Amino acid sequence: MCGIVGYIGPKEAYPILVKGLKRLEYRGYDSAGVALLNGNGIEIFKKQGKVIKMEGIMPSETPKATLGIGHTRWATHGIPSDENSHPHYSQSKNIAIIHNGIIENYASIKERLQGRGFTFKSDTDTEVLVNLIEDILLSEKVALAEAVRIALNQVVGAYAIAVIEEGNHDQIVVAKKGSPLVIGIGEGEYYIASDATPFIEYTKQAVYLEEEELAILSLSNGMELKSITNEIKTPYVQELEIELESIEKGGYDHFMLKEINEQPKSIFDTLRGRLLVNEGTIQLGGFNEFKNKFLSADRIIIVACGTSWHAGLVAEYLIEDLARIPVEVEYASEFRYRNPIITERDIVIAVSQSGETADTLSAIKLAKEKGATIFGVCNVVGSSIAREAHAGAYTHAGPEIGVASTKAFTAQVTIFTLIALTLARKKGTITESKFRQLINELDGMPDKVAETLKVDAQAKYIASVYKDVANCLFLGRGINFPVALEGALKLKEISYIHAEGYPAAEMKHGPIALIDEEMPTVVVATKTEHYEKVVSNIQEIKAREGKIIAVVTQGDTVISKIADHVIEVPYVDERLSPLVTSIPLQLISYHIAVMRGCNIDQPRNLAKSVTVE
Ligand code: M6R
Repeated sequence: MCGIVGYIGPKEAYPILVKGLKRLEYRGYDSAGVALLNGNGIEIFKKQGKVIKMEGIMPSETPKATLGIGHTRWATHGIPSDENSHPHYSQSKNIAIIHNGIIENYASIKERLQGRGFTFKSDTDTEVLVNLIEDILLSEKVALAEAVRIALNQVVGAYAIAVIEEGNHDQIVVAKKGSPLVIGIGEGEYYIASDATPFIEYTKQAVYLEEEELAILSLSNGMELKSITNEIKTPYVQELEIELESIEKGGYDHFMLKEINEQPKSIFDTLRGRLLVNEGTIQLGGFNEFKNKFLSADRIIIVACGTSWHAGLVAEYLIEDLARIPVEVEYASEFRYRNPIITERDIVIAVSQSGETADTLSAIKLAKEKGATIFGVCNVVGSSIAREAHAGAYTHAGPEIGVASTKAFTAQVTIFTLIALTLARKKGTITESKFRQLINELDGMPDKVAETLKVDAQAKYIASVYKDVANCLFLGRGINFPVALEGALKLKEISYIHAEGYPAAEMKHGPIALIDEEMPTVVVATKTEHYEKVVSNIQEIKAREGKIIAVVTQGDTVISKIADHVIEVPYVDERLSPLVTSIPLQLISYHIAVMRGCNIDQPRNLAKSVTVE
């Protein structure tokens, strides 16, 4: 969490920083700030709240500066406040820093610095780091970059930092460990940011810093890259493929709504070049390289968090059913702390939209140490998890900016369908005719999803009926149980209504006690193997006067007679059904949150990319 941005070059820095911070607000919006370096020294402007609040405190004439850094915060150490906002000055105000991450040993360093006469204005670990740098700079009499390097060898934790120094108009020093940092290279100028979106309209040439790398971005000497152990490195410059339109709202009120509506395209993009229907094959580059490992694996362990974990649960159904390989799905945060048994014969799949989730990243590092093969399913190209994995498959859903994940989920499910089908065919656990039927249906999914999106008006009506409820239950069975979990997560995170997802049959073991005329239950009840049983679950709720919103297959005549509301989705094979059943649940949550006046794209307390454990 936290977004960082910086600029050095011939242009005015402030407008670039502000625009960049707005694009990075998905990473945190507890406070925002900039530090500008000019003839007056380093001037810092920062304010609790969103970037717009910081704009409100800027002087009518913004200080002219061609070098600056900016930060948007998701609070970890210290409450959201003006004092705790970044950038932070060092004690002398000669150095300023922005930081994304956590310095775990900040308390002992702070104590040491206090003993040396340093005083602190904030509760942050970041202010400790900038003063450590200053202390080293003064006591060791070294240049800024060397002081940063020495300081980073003393800290434990995660960081993406940018550091500037009074009077040093030629240079920004940046470094990274555990949090992302990308450098954009323009003509005689450098940009830095947590992801490439702040500079995409200026340059497509980018260098992603690797773990424990430090770069000196100098207008006179170019870029110098080294490890924090002082080993000189050669920067790997890559051409970015993101387009500006993909990170703008494009006429929609919210990114979330745009991203929900993009799903026909994002699923198409995930399948493009991989699903070759005419040839009757699937080509998954990253997978092919490791196919023998997959085929001989004792089991597959999927680690992820949040929505990505739900996609992992869908994958468990798909891979076990089609390819008959045992799959375990783990919360990344739990997996790493329970001394898991992992061997060289295990495949660990990390699923992550951002590719930066700290728990997932730590989980795969642990599994890698124990010899497992790591496969990444990430959306953000070049992200930390993608780079840490031995191999992987990008979801290619395009930038997802709304904090509530939507198109990333369906893209992840699409990738897992491709993986499960490929494994099944190679293992001979699927007949050729079933394989052909499923790949043909998969090829048609973008159209089916487009058709499903037509339920929007109905979803809006249902939202208007239930927008004021305090609780909501979501039920599903089989492969649609994870869809119920995902529906509940969507509702709670953006509307702040308490919601629970449950396997439909589990309801009678506890949650049924919650049912009364006030309690709506959203049931995924499409035509699957479990259809009759789900109908019985619906009857059980109706017998207790509960309200039912059922997602059913087009033409269903049974449930429409029992349920209070039905939303029809097109018929698809059960294995592909999460790609359509998840859509109405996304839309209902979206409309409820809008009607409740919630902040759709930046729900309270959340951030898009959770880079702290
Ligand atoms: O970037 P990741 O997929 O690793 O993120 C995992 C979760 O933080 C994320 O899915 C979160 O639960 C979303 N806000 C859900 O909409």
